[in-house]
Amino acid sequence: MLSPLVLPHITIIKKNMSKILILNGPNLNLLGTREPEIYGHDTLKDVEKLCVETAQHHKMDIDFRQSNHEGILIDWIQEAINNVDGVIINAAGYTHTSVSIHDALKMLTCPIVEVHLSDPETREEFRHFSYITPVAQAVIKGQGAQGYKQAVEFLAKVIN
Ligand code: DQA
Repeated sequence: MLSPLVLPHITIIKKNMSKILILNGPNLNLLGTREPEIYGHDTLKDVEKLCVETAQHHKMDIDFRQSNHEGILIDWIQEAINNVDGVIINAAGYTHTSVSIHDALKMLTCPIVEVHLSDPETREEFRHFSYITPVAQAVIKGQGAQGYKQAVEFLAKVIN
């Protein structure tokens, strides 16, 4: 019969890996071919790989998603309530229009990082306002795909 291992003076606490949800909004599925002079040549798969590699280095888990539909993004944010340790979001065009994504993000208690490949504030005026910024702990913009890596690193510091 196996006897249990008794370690009277040692408490072993196994910490689960931190979970990060990365959400990408409309048209980001076409990254690489979509206006590469603005958004660069990396595909969304390349960005995902960069995020996964960065997260592995910090012993964190990444769930990387993209949708062209506002409601689906909102469903994913709602699922994240009490289930993830951090959220990174590039809401793309919804950044400038979606009160509902703002409201959904407001229900999260974990840190949120807003990411943009380009710097919307240096572009057309309709991109200057963001509904995400008021609910985000950090905003990273104009750094291309590297901005996602910086966002993962920011969360690693804040969470771990
Ligand atoms: C973007 C900037 C938005 O203004 C635009 O609608 C996008 C991408 C960016 O990553 O630079 O789709 O979020």
